[in-house]
Amino acid sequence: MLDIGTGQDAVWALAAARAGARQVWAVEVIPQSARIARKTIEEAGFADRVTVVEGLSTEIELPEPVDMCVSEIIGTLGGSEGAGSVLRDARERLVKPGGVFIPHRSATTAVALDLGSAGRGEPLGFPPLVFRYVEDVFASVGRPFDLRVVLEGLQDNPKARERAYLSGPVEVEPLEFNGDLNPEGVDGAELTFTRAGTFSGLALGMRLWVAEDDEPIDSLVQPSSWTPVYAPLSAEGLPVRPGDRFEFDFTTTLSDDGVHPDYALTGELHRPGGPAAPLSWGSTHHGDGFRATPFYRSLFPGPGGP
Ligand SMILES: C[S@@+](CC[C@H](N)C(=O)[O-])C[C@H]1O[C@@H](n2cnc3c(N)ncnc32)[C@H](O)[C@@H]1O
Repeated sequence: MLDIGTGQDAVWALAAARAGARQVWAVEVIPQSARIARKTIEEAGFADRVTVVEGLSTEIELPEPVDMCVSEIIGTLGGSEGAGSVLRDARERLVKPGGVFIPHRSATTAVALDLGSAGRGEPLGFPPLVFRYVEDVFASVGRPFDLRVVLEGLQDNPKARERAYLSGPVEVEPLEFNGDLNPEGVDGAELTFTRAGTFSGLALGMRLWVAEDDEPIDSLVQPSSWTPVYAPLSAEGLPVRPGDRFEFDFTTTLSDDGVHPDYALTGELHRPGGPAAPLSWGSTHHGDGFRATPFYRSLFPGPGGP
């Protein structure tokens, strides 16, 4: 059995050993987490059957292919942490043909959003504690950039979702870990507005099927470790009515590191009696723009204001 990204607690590696796995390879790229995992496994009494391998799963070799691969490298957008390319590599090199992958499937989800209603008119921004993390991220990358931001307060509040979500959800970026696994692709999708409101962008989430027959974890509507990401499309917002449609293509390509995806979305808002309004959004893994759009200029006001 292979646990990709075992983390310091080696939870899945230890669960597999307890369930009777003969040999478990627990792979972890962060040296400190790998060290702590080794100690955790020793203390749990499984050092004879669980071996910690420090490194990237895409760069290690195993003495023989395994029957099963468990991992938790699903992102706030399903593939954003590289699950598609990492698990495709595992399938090609580290897992026996017909071997089983847990989780079974993930998808990125999108729903039309009225940002003003989501925030109840409060100004956009980061809570002070979170802003300290933003500064740490900028310091570690060496420069500020337009990082992806999440929408707090919707998952555990059905009333807030009712105000903010203007349509039902659609799925894009399907990742079939036990099937035809394509980390890159273009997915056409269409959202039909079910409520009147001001369309400002999309809330992007993920659905995760741990096993094939499970109900998925759905980050757009359930509190979880994953929080919806905001994809801004219109700074002023566009008035919409029930029955209006937003048609779009969602493109996933692997970034310059060959593992993490770059995302791009282009679409058109269709309202009766008016011309189609073109709208687009993009977010690259190694993006270098800062304050590049009105949304990010209002989030990070410069010395002269937005
Ligand atoms: C979200 S944590 C999950 C930790 C633990 N498995 C759990 O479920 O609590 C993801 C872990 O995977 C590691 N990781 C991500 N991609 C990896 C890769 N390709 N090879 C090895 N470790 C990886 C990260 O360093 C991190 O520790």
